[in-house]
Amino acid sequence: MTTSTAFASVSALVRRETSMVYDEGKEYLVEARLNPLAAARGLGLEEYVGRLAFDADERRKAVDALTINETSWFRDHTPYQAFTDAMLPALVEGRQITRRLRIWSAACSSGQEAYSIAMLLDQHLPAGWSHEIVATDISTAMLERVRAGRYSQVEVNRGLPATGLVRYFTRAGRDWEIAERLRERITVRHLNLAAPYTGLGTFDVIWLRNVLIYFDAATKSDILRRMLPMLAGDGYLLLGSSETTLDLPAELAAAWRREQIGRVPVYRRAPTGSLTPSLTSTGDRPCAR
Ligand SMILES: C[S@@+](CC[C@H](N)C(=O)[O-])C[C@H]1O[C@@H](n2cnc3c(N)ncnc32)[C@H](O)[C@@H]1O
Repeated sequence: MTTSTAFASVSALVRRETSMVYDEGKEYLVEARLNPLAAARGLGLEEYVGRLAFDADERRKAVDALTINETSWFRDHTPYQAFTDAMLPALVEGRQITRRLRIWSAACSSGQEAYSIAMLLDQHLPAGWSHEIVATDISTAMLERVRAGRYSQVEVNRGLPATGLVRYFTRAGRDWEIAERLRERITVRHLNLAAPYTGLGTFDVIWLRNVLIYFDAATKSDILRRMLPMLAGDGYLLLGSSETTLDLPAELAAAWRREQIGRVPVYRRAPTGSLTPSLTSTGDRPCAR
């Protein structure tokens, strides 16, 4: 069992480094995630937590271990259907001159979201078009996994259709490796959504799914305010199924126009005339890490 002081110290560390809120009651999670790291160092949990104060390398590993990386292929299915059926055709229609799309998987975990999008673009983007998928996360361990593009049998069983497995993967020992042609479409970057960053450019679709739930209201608002100018005027923002903009401060909520594609809510930029300058400037500051 962690003492309340050790738990408070871990909770403050995670808050400082990622903005994720680890409330009381999550002690079991801290134990489950940090016990293996402590054991690997031959330390008890409390001793290990004490070490985090002065060991930066171990701190990074601990923060990585405390991020919640739950993900799957084509998670929730309907957003991907809406992407293929409605968003993609509309974007293709509107990009006939540049013939290029940019997509952001903004808390990509081990990459299933970014690679699911890559598969759909491979199948549905007209010939002669180019695209880039930028995959970012705060966890360096997760980003290594996206780069490796290698998944266990259990992982490929979670949401990946058999046709996708046959078409895009080859066996690599007991794992499956994703096709090089999909891997090279993905730009992997370390990024803390809650910290200032710059230089990512604008995107046609931003997938910001199942990450805002871990932040407090002020962090969530700040992220969604800074994301506004990063979305193309006719672009789309997708949130997780339990996430919404309805609880934002009124002005910011109004800046994100909610539309429905079938059962899927998508968020679009409201016309700029109706927004205050503070909501339309990028507010870019130096890149985090
Ligand atoms: C539950 S996963 C969601 C993965 C994927 N978007 C999906 O919907 O399946 C949440 C991800 O958010 C990342 N994360 C947590 N805090 C973050 C932060 N401050 N900046 C960027 N990513 C963060 C975690 O490392 C984790 O990989």
